[in-house]
Amino acid sequence: MRAKDIRDKADGESITMLTAYDAPTAKVVDEAGIDIILVGDSLGNTQLGYDSTLPVTVDEMASHTAAVARATENALVLADMPFLSYGADRGEAIENCGRMLKEANADGVKLESGPHTVELTERLVALGIPVQAHLGLTPQHENETGLFRQGTDMEGAEEILELAEAHEAAGAFSLVLEHVPTNLAAAVSKRLSIPTIGIGAGPDCDGQVLVVDEVIGRSTDTAPFSRSWGDVRGEMERAVAGYKEDVESGEFPAEEHTHHESGVEDVY
Ligand code: KIV
Repeated sequence: MRAKDIRDKADGESITMLTAYDAPTAKVVDEAGIDIILVGDSLGNTQLGYDSTLPVTVDEMASHTAAVARATENALVLADMPFLSYGADRGEAIENCGRMLKEANADGVKLESGPHTVELTERLVALGIPVQAHLGLTPQHENETGLFRQGTDMEGAEEILELAEAHEAAGAFSLVLEHVPTNLAAAVSKRLSIPTIGIGAGPDCDGQVLVVDEVIGRSTDTAPFSRSWGDVRGEMERAVAGYKEDVESGEFPAEEHTHHESGVEDVY
């Protein structure tokens, strides 16, 4: 899958996108036929034990993106650029984004977007780095905006609409809209020719994205706009408890898990 294939899907069936952060999960997601795998900076909260996305580093993103890319055959793999890896210095931003393609084998990058990413998006696209924009709730701004719904008044909604158009004009191949009102997401989706991919943005986007840990039921808390289709955490709890019980009772390892060598009979 290429960024162009996603851009061309704007009028077709809904685009599916999920996060993944490791090879085994990416393999399952890819084999299920999901269109886009995002190595989200939600890596920070979901895998690395941080309480926000802010501490995630470029090295961590590159390492996890490379693991996902190694296990993915069909889906488009996107690396989410972490806090302060772009936006401050143009050269450094290009180098950091370029690393995700050159070193980690991503097919493109996602940038939490704003007025500061319009020109950068244009430059990255000109250099051959496909960019997915991201507007609405952008968790890297949590110290400024909190983790709340965005675009809830006319001023906020108009700003999102204008920035969406500016990023389309700059060459972004798609746009994530996070936690914005359904009617705003519908208006943006109607206005743009690139696909919109919603998370907590209602059904009128061209696609949907969720965090995989919530979808499979592994996380302890789930966003109000998300849903679980599985109980992986429950399954893990049962497996770990079963292992503990069988080791403590002596039931594991059993005869079939061990081997005996007559040649080392006299070892002491
Ligand atoms: O980091 C992430 O997982 C994201 C998605 C929620 C869009 O940015």
